[in-house]
Amino acid sequence: MQRVVIKLSGSIFKQPFDLNYIKILCDSFVSLLNEGIQPIIVSGGGEVARNYINVLRAFGVDETTLDEIGISVSRLNAKIIIGALGSFAYPLVPSSMDELSLALNLGKIVVLGGLYPGHSTNATAALVAEKSRATLFVNATDVDGVYTADPKIDKDAKKYDQIDTKTLFNLVTSSPIIAGSYDLFDPLAIKIIERSNIRTRIVLCTPQNILNAIKGSKVGTEIVIK
Ligand code: UTP
Repeated sequence: MQRVVIKLSGSIFKQPFDLNYIKILCDSFVSLLNEGIQPIIVSGGGEVARNYINVLRAFGVDETTLDEIGISVSRLNAKIIIGALGSFAYPLVPSSMDELSLALNLGKIVVLGGLYPGHSTNATAALVAEKSRATLFVNATDVDGVYTADPKIDKDAKKYDQIDTKTLFNLVTSSPIIAGSYDLFDPLAIKIIERSNIRTRIVLCTPQNILNAIKGSKVGTEIVIK
């Protein structure tokens, strides 16, 4: 069975939850399964993870523990997607690569959060794409692609239709690598994509964009290996 990995932006778990949106998103994952494509979903931690991380950092808690808090929240978010998918989903959230492999064998939609401290769910999703030999990694996020600068700050920022891994690496390594703020795409994710030549696209998180990216449309930004 062909597999695709979809990283779901933590922004879709913003509270109060938009049940209708989550349902439509999950229906699109089920439609993929019906076409013989097994989706593997990686949920981000979002605002709740950042709130917990910020409170605990203010109390002087170490960064590894803060990463673990982010992982816990992303797994809780994964539970929401599993609940919305019902019997189409594998019922547990894999917490290791071995558990992921076992889950994939059942042919259902597998949903997970983070796995290990020190990086974001983007890197988890890249590792999961590598492990599962996925044909595509779709990073569904809260911007419609990669820009020359942060489009929320710089109005003149231009979107890339395509960006190579070297340019993307230089763009993201200027940001700090601390719990809760690994930016649009963390450096580890880029290195994993590079070493295993994983087809990757960054799109605005909507059901249609995700489906279009999987059908091969030129939506968002494509990452090419350099
Ligand atoms: P993310 O930063 O990936 O979630 O995970 P997010 O903020 O929702 O991501 P975007 O906005 O969709 O891109 C939350 C935090 O959990 C920890 C990190 O501290 C991360 O910032 N984490 C997550 C890990 O340490 N390891 C993982 O595998 C995943």
